[in-house]
Amino acid sequence: MTLIPFYKFRTSALVASALLLAMAGNGQGVDFRKMTAEERQAYMARINAASYADRKKMLEQLRIVLPQLPPDSLDPARPAHTFRQRGTGNWIDSAGQFYARSEWGAWTNYDEAKAGAYTLPDPLVLNNGQRVTSAKDWWNKRRPEILEYYRNEVYGKIPDYTPKVTFEVVSTDSSAVSGTAILKKIVGRIDNSSYPSDTPRIEISLYLPKDLKGQVPMMVQVSGAFFAPPEKTASQPAGARELVLAQGWAFATVNTTAIQADNGAGLTKGIIGLVNKGQPRKPEDWGVLAAWSWGLSRAMDYFQTDKAIDGRKIGLQGHSRWGKTALLTAALDQRWAIVFPTSSGAMGASLEKRNYGETIDIVAGTGEYHWMAGNFLKYGGNWSALPVDAHHLIALVAPRPVFITGGTQERWIDTEGEFLACVAAEPVYRLLGKKGLGTTTMPAPDHALVEGEIAFRNHTGGHVDLPNWPAFLQWAKRYFK
Ligand code: GCU
Repeated sequence: MTLIPFYKFRTSALVASALLLAMAGNGQGVDFRKMTAEERQAYMARINAASYADRKKMLEQLRIVLPQLPPDSLDPARPAHTFRQRGTGNWIDSAGQFYARSEWGAWTNYDEAKAGAYTLPDPLVLNNGQRVTSAKDWWNKRRPEILEYYRNEVYGKIPDYTPKVTFEVVSTDSSAVSGTAILKKIVGRIDNSSYPSDTPRIEISLYLPKDLKGQVPMMVQVSGAFFAPPEKTASQPAGARELVLAQGWAFATVNTTAIQADNGAGLTKGIIGLVNKGQPRKPEDWGVLAAWSWGLSRAMDYFQTDKAIDGRKIGLQGHSRWGKTALLTAALDQRWAIVFPTSSGAMGASLEKRNYGETIDIVAGTGEYHWMAGNFLKYGGNWSALPVDAHHLIALVAPRPVFITGGTQERWIDTEGEFLACVAAEPVYRLLGKKGLGTTTMPAPDHALVEGEIAFRNHTGGHVDLPNWPAFLQWAKRYFK
């Protein structure tokens, strides 16, 4: 997968997710393959316009007024070494790095010297200023405070009452993955009797290794398609699925597209729209990432009922926006025993108050605001006001093992910022009797820090997850014996 900042390929990124949607073949999707180029363009223009209008309404609800900015080409704040890329009109530098101006006027920074001075809120200090010195106070006092911030201000509130989900195995293939696995396709039907025109659902592909010896651990991969990765051919390297199955573990994918669309236009549909009966969101209502995490928790309900799987050894991996989702999901639902968010970046594992690569402002922009609660828009151009940062999100996973990654060539996701967040989360792991990274020095590329329950690897390369799977599995084996 390539890194697609939304601003960069505003249309093609959406086209890409819509294509996945088409592949999903569910009631929410449109089939892009049956459309002409003009029809596709018109469809995307409608999605963009509806997203823009929805966000505008939310800004009005919150009385947020965006600053008036000069045209970006005339903006004296534009980094001097940037120029327009032919074909896209985006700003890039000679290394091809992407730059954007946020709606609050800030330009992307990749200069370590300008990453800014910031103070990270201490995860072990209560809102009343008292220091947390016992595991008991962490669980009973501090952790609930942090969760409350995330619920109200950042990802939004998962409603107390959500519709019932009934799972059904819709097909079984007993010779999947070159005959090594049994593939079960499972659909979670969401009760939509309160708002029948909306038809979200939960789609799972579950692969069980053929020669099961008792209950097995499992890795779940969350992403945007109801996909069966292609069968491995001789010329293709093994993917995550093959690597996991080779451990004798089960592997499953969960498709987020069928739960909630990945755009602002879809916020009155999907599971969010179903609970709101088609009405727009209130500022604290859940965003798309929280909705996806809800779907994953329901998938977890199902996995707990499958006798072939060891319910205490289920891990979660996701890449990029699904890396953010994986981390959030493990933070909210403690049944996930291990989490592996790869290249999760902004509003995932990388520090938000650090001015490097993608920032809060960009996530609060038209292309991505739907991931978050409406309230999150208040922090555009106002990062220091955010009472939490990525190290809090990581700390919510403690004491469970977490493996964080990024690449050397994806500055947009800020791999260094992820490392710093791991370092800052360490005191919470230590308070709970676990080990963190054990260093404050960024490791050399490809050198995995795997001594403790927080693990980290900066792979050589771009926006991909595969290079980190072998190191992850090696480390995860300690916990999933
Ligand atoms: C964009 C977005 C990132 C996200 C990425 C992806 O680049 O800005 O936050 O992680 O898309 O999901 O691939």
